[in-house]
Parts: sequence; C-alpha cells; structure tokens
Amino acid sequence: MILIDGKEAAAELRAELKEEVVELKSKHNKVPGLTVILIGDLTPSQIYVRNKEKSANEVGIKSEVIKYPDSVEEKTVLKKIKELNSDETVSGILVQLPLPKHIDKQKVIEAIDPSKDVDGFHPMNVGNLSSGYESSIPCTPLGCYLLIKKIEPNLSGKKAVIVGRSNLNGKPMTQLLLKENCTVTITHSKTKDLKAECLEADIIVAAVGIPELVRGDWVKKDAIVIDVGINKTDNGIVGDVHFDEVSKNVRALTPVPGGVGPMTIACLLKNTIDCFKRSQI
Ligand code: GUN
Repeated sequence: MILIDGKEAAAELRAELKEEVVELKSKHNKVPGLTVILIGDLTPSQIYVRNKEKSANEVGIKSEVIKYPDSVEEKTVLKKIKELNSDETVSGILVQLPLPKHIDKQKVIEAIDPSKDVDGFHPMNVGNLSSGYESSIPCTPLGCYLLIKKIEPNLSGKKAVIVGRSNLNGKPMTQLLLKENCTVTITHSKTKDLKAECLEADIIVAAVGIPELVRGDWVKKDAIVIDVGINKTDNGIVGDVHFDEVSKNVRALTPVPGGVGPMTIACLLKNTIDCFKRSQI
C-alpha cells in the first residue's frame, strides 16, 4: 500500500513555488501578496491562519493578516475588502471561515474581486470551474487532485466516488475529476447504499465529516482513497476513513493528519501566485 505523504508533496510544491516567486520578482520587480482577514478568536482558525502566513513567507509571498474582533460590523469588513480589491500590492484575498453569525458569508465572498479570490468561492469562479474555463480552484480539492495525479497520472475512464456534496470540497472535486474524464458519482447523507457505491470506485474522496465512515470492506483492492476529514474524537483526530482497516485493502491512502491538510495550504500559495501572474498580463 502506498501511504500518500502530503507533507512531502506539499514541501515539493512549496519549493517549486519558491523558485517561481524568485523568477517573478526578477521579471516584474514585485512579489505576489496575500491578505488574510481573520474575524474572532476561534482557535482552529487562528492556527490555520498562522500556518498560512508562515508558509507564504517561506515561499517569498508578502503576507498580511488583518484581525477583527467577533463584534466587528459587516460593513467594516466589506469596506476593507473593497480597499484590498483596488490595492495593487494585494494579489489574493482570503476571509477565514467560519464567520460570526451576524455577518453574511455569501455577501463577503461576493465582495471579493473574483480575480483575487484565492479560495475559488466566488460564484464567478465556481461557474468558470464548472464550465471548464480558467478559474481559481478551491485549495482542498485542488490539493486532493494533485495527490491523486501523483499516484495515477491517467485518470481517463476511472470511476470516482465523492462522499460529501459540499461547495468547499465535494462539488469542486467533482468538476476536477470530470475534467480528467473520470465517471464521477457524488454521494451524500441520502444515498441509499453508500458501501455499494464505494465498492465500485477506483478513486474515493471522503469529505463528509463523519469519523471513520469508510470501512475496510467498502473498498476495492486497487482503489486510491483520499481522506479529507478532520474529526475530533475521544481517540484524537481521525479522518472520514477507517485508516487501519482501509490501509490493508487498497492501493493508496492519505493519512490524517499529514495527508490532504498540508497540500491545502500549499495550494493556497499556488493560487496566490496564479492570481498574481494573471494580473500581470
Ligand atoms: N476555513 C476552513 N477551511 C477554509 C478554507 O479553505 N478557506 C477559508 N477561507 N476558510 C476556511
């Protein structure tokens, strides 16, 4: 079984991006900039944002974090986004989710200039991705896609089963695999026989938030299994895949942690650089 090392893949990607930033700097005499807006003091969000900042600096991206208290008014955030939209030194804008209840998430996402939307959440980017046009691609599914391609460069005709239909993961993952000529099935909480669907799959992407849902007898022996889940349990952090059981029965599997997670941040850096490059044309 191949244990897919997301840490190593992310380090390789960061090294490539670092070189690219050096080239861009000599060509344009400036570097890509990433601005993250962090609202409130949720610990996981703070940790993510710190990691994003650290990784951005490591590859030479100029990064800035703007922090607001939980009580900040929506209009203050929208005004700041407008300012960042017209700031030439800012290539990418990310508003860390989740947001406090009094702030309308969709309004915030739609305020971001689509050409600076490094999350790929703006409806313009969602639409472009689903139409097969150039767009920012959400970082987690992009990271999953790059890991799958490392194991199997030719995905044409493969059957992929996505567990979970979220806008963040399931839906964009589907678009990426469709573009590779996979036959894609999206499953969710109302799917009749999830085990039977998974047993058909050459590729499984589990992104549903249910601890250890995918079991050892749900998988084909040559399947590639990508586990997007990060679930806190009494036994520590586990994924959506039962690692011990599934690892005995498949071709390749990502661990949790150390699988998809590190790739997500590396892909955010890639998206920032891609936004910068598009803005220089
Ligand atoms: N919170 C958890 N994951 C994400 C993400 O990918 N983007 C943003 N903006 N917030 C998140």
